[in-house]
Amino acid sequence: MRKVRKTAEAPQVSRSAADAAGAADTPAIDVRGVVRHYRSPGRGVVHALDDVSVRVERGRVLGIVGESGCGKSTLARLLTRLERPDDGTVEVLGTRIDNAKRGPLRRMRRTIQLVFQDPYASLDPRQRVGAALAEVLDVHGLPSGPDRVGELLEQVGLVAALAERYPHQLSGGQRQRLGIARALAVRPDVLVLDEPVSALDVSVRAEIMNLLVHLREELGLTFVFISHDLGMVRHFADEIAVMYLGKIVEIGPWDAVSDEPLHPYTRALQAAVLIPDPTRDAAVAETGVTGEVPDAAAPPTGCRFHPRCPLAEDVCRTEEPALLPVPVFRKDGTQPSGEHRLACHVVRRRFAETAEAAQSPAQATAHTAAPAVRVGKETGE
Ligand SMILES: Nc1ncnc2c1ncn2[C@@H]1O[C@H](COP(=O)(O)OP(=O)(O)OP(=O)(O)O)[C@@H](O)[C@H]1O
Ligand code: SF4
Ligand SMILES: [Mg+2]
Repeated sequence: MRKVRKTAEAPQVSRSAADAAGAADTPAIDVRGVVRHYRSPGRGVVHALDDVSVRVERGRVLGIVGESGCGKSTLARLLTRLERPDDGTVEVLGTRIDNAKRGPLRRMRRTIQLVFQDPYASLDPRQRVGAALAEVLDVHGLPSGPDRVGELLEQVGLVAALAERYPHQLSGGQRQRLGIARALAVRPDVLVLDEPVSALDVSVRAEIMNLLVHLREELGLTFVFISHDLGMVRHFADEIAVMYLGKIVEIGPWDAVSDEPLHPYTRALQAAVLIPDPTRDAAVAETGVTGEVPDAAAPPTGCRFHPRCPLAEDVCRTEEPALLPVPVFRKDGTQPSGEHRLACHVVRRRFAETAEAAQSPAQATAHTAAPAVRVGKETGE
């Protein structure tokens, strides 16, 4: 699969006041300290998101990865204001949306759009493809004639004649292309893609991924790309955030996070990609990570990963690790562009110890601190 061009181009299509004022430094997305808890009968208070902060620069792709239930879709819903956070703020292109009133909210909905895993669920089975697209255009007061509908279909690689079909007459890949066309109809600046290819056959996934790469390049869009698969995200993202039980545990440049991860949980995700036979036993042997993800209604104390972590120490059971920068250098001594942040007491301490011993951060990173957390060695295998 072709890798997305790693540039931070300005979007071709922009209409916000912030853009008009030339606020090029304003990030596409700026989420600060968001909290989202659900009261669930029989389960209690579900900690879907706890103190999550993330910033995405314009024209960049943020990949969000983590196991089922870690809060990825909840974050997607907050980013698109389908839900509001209990605490914290969400800014899109410089405008706060978490507390926006109806007028600004309507404008915001043309700026950021969500693409769902299952577009079928959001389509009316009795509505033809063309009518489904025209409806979106009408809602936003945009020209909705056959020409514009045909243009949208062609933009996502569908022939204009498909406008006459019903959703059930489309293949899974065609339906997802239609879902993307509906999101593009309002000429957004930002797309949030929540597992956009997970429900598709493997053969179709690459086609849709290539379409997304092409659209991002052509339109200069900002993407938030959500997946449970680190292997999928690494092909596409400029930066990767790893989530575990409602928290970001590691975030940084795509190559640093996917190729030389520091957090024991990210290492387990990486092993799941690298191990040719990803059986549970093989993954446990490789990483030392055991057990299931705990219920988000009863998150563990301290570091939420501690019951499964092969490196856990006493401090991990009582003190929550903060997400802080680490001075990462590659094995060749170069430093990835962009900040790499990590929430782990033990790995951070090892960085500090090796930096002190080497008296040089460059010598204290890829060569020393990171290999020291290869969990297979830690567990004596
Ligand atoms: N409306 C809701 N009411 C109660 N609990 C919810 C609600 N929505 C999400 N949750 C819970 O919040 C947590 C995070 O859910 P979320 O759907 O964001 O996870 P996810 O990472 O998207 O998972 P998946 O990979 O399965 O899509 C889960 O424990 C989920 O059960
Ligand atoms: S803080 Fe402790 S339990 Fe959490 S990931 Fe680091 S070593 Fe493991
Ligand atoms: Mg989800």
